[in-house]
Amino acid sequence: MKKALITGASGGIGLEVARKLTAQGYNLTLVARNKEKLISLQESLGKDRHQVIYLDLTKKADILQLSNHITNNRYDILINNAGTGTYGQFVEIPLEDQLSTMTLNMEAVVTLSYAYLKNARSGDALINIGSLLAHSSLPGGAVYAATKSFVANFSESLWFEFKNKGIFVAGFHPGATDSDFHHNAGKETSAFPKFVVSSVAQVAEELINALNNRSKPRIVQGLKNRMMLFGFRLLSRKAAVNIMGKISPGIPHS
Ligand SMILES: NC(=O)c1ccc[n+]([C@@H]2O[C@H](COP(=O)([O-])OP(=O)(O)OC[C@H]3O[C@@H](n4cnc5c(N)ncnc54)[C@H](OP(=O)(O)O)[C@@H]3O)[C@@H](O)[C@H]2O)c1
Repeated sequence: MKKALITGASGGIGLEVARKLTAQGYNLTLVARNKEKLISLQESLGKDRHQVIYLDLTKKADILQLSNHITNNRYDILINNAGTGTYGQFVEIPLEDQLSTMTLNMEAVVTLSYAYLKNARSGDALINIGSLLAHSSLPGGAVYAATKSFVANFSESLWFEFKNKGIFVAGFHPGATDSDFHHNAGKETSAFPKFVVSSVAQVAEELINALNNRSKPRIVQGLKNRMMLFGFRLLSRKAAVNIMGKISPGIPHS
């Protein structure tokens, strides 16, 4: 029986990916902080087949605990999906919160990737969830966007290092998605024009396709997002940052 571990599986994209992998016959280990949500998800997906681990991946001891778990248990797939951000201008967000974002979005991803890839075998796959913002700066979300650039760059290098061993590593980069992410970050998904927002089901479907195809080191989710990115590449950096600043939910607009 194939096994997959998903961080951030209690809601949003991770939960939807968990549903789809269960349907494909995977036995899952679901990781997040919220015990009640995880237990209810475990019950709905099939209690005997799936395991839950409640951890806070902004805490170094918890990251280490999960890293040890990965070292001692074999998984065919690891999806580093847990991630948060905070909208607002850099000096208006408590530094502590921004450092926590860095720990979750980067340190946990690196530590868990290390534990996984040390013992990975041909056929295994590691997906790190970045963001469309990996490809842009975001005034009003400076640290978040920077952490996602890190994820994209990091995953791409690992793709090369592991491809000849038959191990697939990729960064998967969703655009704006209708999950609790934006609410938790201090804004609402309604801050985005409707046409740019994907559903978690659409995003999860593309992630599963990426896992099935196992081709590219950097997968940008959604045709509309790939087109946006293409358009942005034609602009100067100054023009691109000015546009991002004007549309960012993290910058006050009068
Ligand atoms: N939504 C978007 O527009 C969007 C766009 C691009 C990229 N992404 C990325 O996609 C990934 C998933 O986000 P989402 O949209 O599905 O957001 P979400 O609905 O807020 O889900 C985030 C998941 O991460 C878990 N999580 C948060 N902090 C954690 C912590 N400290 N330790 C362990 N687990 C933690 C949450 O569970 P608990 O609260 O139970 O811990 C939840 O399961 C993130 O990496 C995000 O950056 C999202």
